[in-house]
Amino acid sequence: MMKTILVTGGAGFIGSEVVRKLVSKYPNYKIVNLDALTYAGNLENLKPIEGATNYFFEKADITDASAINHVFEKHQISDVIHLAAESHVDRSISNPLDFVYTNVIGTVILLEAAKKYWKGNYQNHLFYHVSTDEVYGSLGTEGFFTETTNYDPHSPYSASKASSDHFVRSYHDTYGLQVVISNCSNNYGPYHFPEKLIPLMIHNIINNKALPVYGNGKYTRDWLYVIDHARAIDLIFHTGKIGDTYNIGGFNEWQNIDLVHLLCKLMDEKLGRETGTSQQLITYVKDRPGHDLRYAIDATKLNKELGWSPSVTFEEGLSATIDWFLSNQTWLNNVTSGAYATYYDKQYSH
Ligand code: NAD
Ligand code: DAU
Repeated sequence: MMKTILVTGGAGFIGSEVVRKLVSKYPNYKIVNLDALTYAGNLENLKPIEGATNYFFEKADITDASAINHVFEKHQISDVIHLAAESHVDRSISNPLDFVYTNVIGTVILLEAAKKYWKGNYQNHLFYHVSTDEVYGSLGTEGFFTETTNYDPHSPYSASKASSDHFVRSYHDTYGLQVVISNCSNNYGPYHFPEKLIPLMIHNIINNKALPVYGNGKYTRDWLYVIDHARAIDLIFHTGKIGDTYNIGGFNEWQNIDLVHLLCKLMDEKLGRETGTSQQLITYVKDRPGHDLRYAIDATKLNKELGWSPSVTFEEGLSATIDWFLSNQTWLNNVTSGAYATYYDKQYSH
């Protein structure tokens, strides 16, 4: 069946993986990538598919209602996969309002545009909202987040994502809009912006810069290769139950400090450095305020109901990620020039 899918945030890390995948896999779909091209959006990420005849790009901000309405009409949008967001926890601590505008208000503006354009005939239309496991708050040393775990966000980022999830559900319950939500754990992979732990460490190891580990380094995250997140989004988009939520995770928990040690070891090997060289760069720095101790997803529902499981092991994914960054240092240098340096100095100067 022909579809015209509006993918928001398609110039970012995960969104560009989704766009590259959908454009190549579904030549009969039109994929409209809408992105404001903030510091995190980069059209270089779309190079592999930018010439495809079923790919379209619209530079627009999801907080601009008239621009969004125009895009729905111009392209006759049949479905939405919504990824556009301010996505970095540390930036949400410095600038919470940016997160309210884009993640909360921008999401409601998109919901309104979809409701208006589809005019109550919702049967053949889906609004898919891509969210995060951070809405569930923090785990102790045991247990997992399931789809029924209560929301308990702690950072302005997770509070804004939780709020957007509630708005999406409210449009289903109140207006009958067909929605689906997924909440995923930490992603890693090619094109990951180097403000986040893994690409930041890779970038700093390459450049022999200090490796800033927050607090005692014992915080735990559940890592998933971005390709497996995009596979899950594709599957949920096509076969997920309307109104449902699906948790997506890697079954792959790492304490930050162990992960940084592993990155140092792998990169010493790949860079031909003596073992132990990079780990000397590890520096414990001031902790993140409100730092969540542990995230871990129980993805049993997605596995049992839709048959999804990760296809890439952490060893394979991490090795491929490091290789990608080593082979794409121009990309890395481009995104770390200019405003990145100002951000970095401000974030890591104390
Ligand atoms: P990212 O920061 O790499 O990309 C976000 C994209 O959204 C960028 O291209 C940016 O230009 C665009 N954008 C930001 N504000 C916009 C606005 N007002 N209007 C239009 N476009 C705007 O983010 P990411 O890591 O790829 O995350 C994508 C989505 O997945 C987010 O909704 C995030 O909450 C969610 N998520 C991320 C992770 C993760 O580990 N990165 C895990 C689970 C869920
Ligand atoms: O869980 C999903 C979430 O994962 C997504 O919703 C977010 O968009 C994404 O940014 C990510 O959030 P985290 O805060 O978990 O990711 P980040 O890479 O910022 O940090 C991972 C862990 O590493 C966290 O415990 C903080 C720590 N850290 C991070 C940075 C940037 C450090 O110790 N040093 C650092 O310099």
